[in-house]
Amino acid sequence: MEYKNLLLENNDGITTLTINRREALNSLNSSVLAELECALYELDLDAAIKAVVLTGAGDKAFVAGADIKEMSELSSFEAHDFARRGQRLMLLINRMRKPVIAAVNGYALGGGLELALACDFIYASEKAKFGFPEVGLGVIPGFGGTQNLARLIGSNKANELIFSGRIINAAKALSWGIVNEVFPADELLLKVLETAREIAGKGTLGVAYAKDAIVNGLSMTKEDGFRYEASLFGVLFATDDQKEGMGAFLGKRAAQFQGK
Ligand code: CAA
Repeated sequence: MEYKNLLLENNDGITTLTINRREALNSLNSSVLAELECALYELDLDAAIKAVVLTGAGDKAFVAGADIKEMSELSSFEAHDFARRGQRLMLLINRMRKPVIAAVNGYALGGGLELALACDFIYASEKAKFGFPEVGLGVIPGFGGTQNLARLIGSNKANELIFSGRIINAAKALSWGIVNEVFPADELLLKVLETAREIAGKGTLGVAYAKDAIVNGLSMTKEDGFRYEASLFGVLFATDDQKEGMGAFLGKRAAQFQGK
């Protein structure tokens, strides 16, 4: 499919998906949301793709939020629908079998931070900036930000960031546990791709099931999460990937996983 607002580049089973709407700092309007949903859905179905890297075009923004111009015209009903559409995209990223890594290269504000938080983890450039300016616009984060940020860093820090609308730099985001690592701007994509390649070399089903256990286990009691983990662990013993992984270890050779 042809995308107006996205660039897709595939290299050795890793897709770099770039949101390319520079004139509005890659902000998310309805058509960007629809294209992202479609592209990520297709990537998830493509057995040749092992990992996805999500980033923003240009050197200024990852995504500067949901599109304020478009939102300013919405009725209450339409705003609810818009939030649900954004949330559906965030949940799709959680449900994907592939890991999705956010490479935050600039502003990640509002819906942009929500998009990064929906990814499996975040690497950032030293120039990245993070925040939820929504209360300054008279609204709240609507693409899952109140839920995902509080779950990630705890409600006290989430409260401070969301209530103040303050914008924090990459070092602060690192110290708060929002991002995993910070790199000089010109190294960010290389470092993210390095990690994506490392993941792509592991058991495809193992990575997919680990994601499933972590994402779904977070909304379970610990005991139910343990039970869920054990059932996925058991299922993996019916796969070729498990036989290949353990056989390769015992045979002192590198494993070649087929994802089945
Ligand atoms: N929506 C629509 N357009 C946006 C935008 C957004 N979120 N962010 C930036 N733009 C547009 C600007 O309007 C401007 O367009 P024009 O050239 O046509 O005027 C262009 O992108 C460049 O932006 P600036 O001139 O403002 O660039 P700057 O360097 O001076 O400032 C910025 C950068 C601090 C990121 C500033 O653009 C800004 O504050 N943007 C809005 C950030 C924001 O509030 N995001 C949250 C949105 S609400 C939300 O996301 C709700 C939700 O949870 C679903």
